[in-house]
Amino acid sequence: MTEKSISRAVIKRLPRYYRYLGELMENGIVRISSMELSERMKVTASQIRQDFNNFGGFGQQGYGYNVEYLYKEIGMILGLESTHNVIIIGAGNVGRALANYSDFNKRGFVFTAIFDNNPKLWEENIGSCKVQPVDMLEEYVREHKVEIAALTLPKESAPQVAAKLVNLGVKAIWNFAPTDLNLPEDVLVENVHLAESLMRLSFRIKESGI
Ligand code: NAI
Repeated sequence: MTEKSISRAVIKRLPRYYRYLGELMENGIVRISSMELSERMKVTASQIRQDFNNFGGFGQQGYGYNVEYLYKEIGMILGLESTHNVIIIGAGNVGRALANYSDFNKRGFVFTAIFDNNPKLWEENIGSCKVQPVDMLEEYVREHKVEIAALTLPKESAPQVAAKLVNLGVKAIWNFAPTDLNLPEDVLVENVHLAESLMRLSFRIKESGI
């Protein structure tokens, strides 16, 4: 598989395929044609075929796609075959929501620790983690394998905490703070901004005249 040459647009669609295929598996569906998948997902069958051709097709003429096989292959492409340790910095509304949401765990994202600078929150259990003082962050990262750090703290503190994490060797940041992080190129940053999504919806409401 030559994942490096696959366009970002295709990669962006893979989690959605993965989710649909997971649901099909839960419903006991063993195989599906690109036409059926297309109807369910509201993506054209040719788009589906084109997307899957990037990875060598997966399908068989006259049979369609083996749902479990495709699910596992896409999971592997997305790096979901192994678990990912995630720490959370900021135990407020957003940090709590993440830590309490058990579905991430099912997908292999394991929240291993949560940090905050508010002493009132220390020792509180959130999900499967106990809130630790942010001063413990350095020691924790040195002693544990931390793949992803979720930043759920105010935007004023996010750049400094991100830089510290990067200095400690963390290579992937899941950034919820509404600020652009200026980090070295080899650090992967995935920004999540619900407000931007809402603004896009607002634009579409305006555009459609409803
Ligand atoms: P919050 O105020 O409930 O929680 C923030 C937590 O961070 C607090 O517990 C605070 O003690 C802690 N904190 C502050 N400075 C810190 C530091 N230097 N080190 C460690 N902990 C520190 O805020 P909320 O509602 O959870 O929002 C968190 C962030 O997420 C904010 O930047 C907010 O703008 C952003 N946000 C992003 C959304 C998105 O779609 N990406 C949606 C909602 C909020």
